[in-house]
Amino acid sequence: MELSNRVKAIKPSSTLAVTARAKALKAQGVDVVSFGAGEPDFDTPQNIKIAATKALDAGVTKYQPTAGTPEARKAVANYMNSQHGYSVGPENVIISCGGKHSLYLAFMALVNPGDEVLLPAPYWVSYPEQVKLAGGTVKELQTTPESDFKITPAQLEAAITPKSKVLVINSPSNPTGTMYSPEELKALADVVAKHPNLLVFSDEIYERLVFGGVKFASFGKLRADVGERTVTFNCLSKTYAMTGWRVGFTIGPAALVKAMDDLQGQMTSNITSFCLPAVVEALGGPQDEVETMRKAFAERGEHIHKRLAKIPGVKCPKPTGAFYVFPDIAEAAFGKKDPAGKVIGTAGDFAAALLEHAKVAVVPGEDFGAPKHIRLSFATSMEQIDKGVDRIADFIKNLKK
Ligand SMILES: Cc1ncc(COP(=O)(O)O)c(C=O)c1O
Repeated sequence: MELSNRVKAIKPSSTLAVTARAKALKAQGVDVVSFGAGEPDFDTPQNIKIAATKALDAGVTKYQPTAGTPEARKAVANYMNSQHGYSVGPENVIISCGGKHSLYLAFMALVNPGDEVLLPAPYWVSYPEQVKLAGGTVKELQTTPESDFKITPAQLEAAITPKSKVLVINSPSNPTGTMYSPEELKALADVVAKHPNLLVFSDEIYERLVFGGVKFASFGKLRADVGERTVTFNCLSKTYAMTGWRVGFTIGPAALVKAMDDLQGQMTSNITSFCLPAVVEALGGPQDEVETMRKAFAERGEHIHKRLAKIPGVKCPKPTGAFYVFPDIAEAAFGKKDPAGKVIGTAGDFAAALLEHAKVAVVPGEDFGAPKHIRLSFATSMEQIDKGVDRIADFIKNLKK
């Protein structure tokens, strides 16, 4: 069977692959410490589960409006208005099958073959693949740990060409765990303002999980003129520990929302019917569990960073949001031999050897556009963090020159 060129050109998700491999080893009884999963280790708050089960019991089991029920879309609009000072309505909101599908629909609705998408690297693994599926070209804007993985206004200005259609901003970031300050984002918005054809996709799915003292700012609110050209993405997955529910939102101009609604109507239709009342409950109900999770991530982020930074040769910017650290392990490991005598030349080699010999799962940086780095998710207990970092430190110490 001859597969399409489209599908042959995309890579499978490396983050999902590592998580699956770690789970499979655990199922065989192997004592694996997994830093792979990009999901909170907490359960979904009970009030949200009750909203869904009540809906199920009440027979909310049939097709719903494609973009979501009026109540659920209104709940998202209200959230954006009260939390971030927008003045959007339900017509500016579409609810899709996770943040991933929200982004995919938006790329498909806006990017034409030949269009360039400006992507600060390191980046979340799905952006380049989604751009490719839409026929666009990715232009990477490289950053370094020294600058906390942030692009500068001058770098952005230099990268923009007449073909540039979209700039992607993801703050707090997966995979780096760092974030831009409101002033830094405003300086980027000032550059975007000079280029009227450039749109911004602001992926804000980690906005509530911030802890480094840096204030979160929603990109679309920084300047009114740029706000009109900004599409904002959010979801319930990370904030409310609801990764499996598959609920994502796009907030943007009504004409774009309508186009995405048309696309979604030919793809998945509405998200699962009884999840829609849960959107209303999640965004409008009690928020104390979000704060409990945020505090736990703050403590773990502080702890794992402190411990990793002590490993000789490991360079690791401090996370200020999300639940990831993204150390550079090149100096500590590249060119050295693992216990089987195999030379480690890439982050992929490092991650494979670490899993095999030390039973620790991490995601190699190649697919995030950062080949000297590995991503560790600290959405796991302090005990697992200590156990895993002990193993990583020992593994690195025992690599042979
Ligand atoms: C930066 C970023 N955007 C989007 C997503 C997709 O989120 P969802 O699980 O809601 O599809 C993820 C998930 O890991 C992510 O890290």
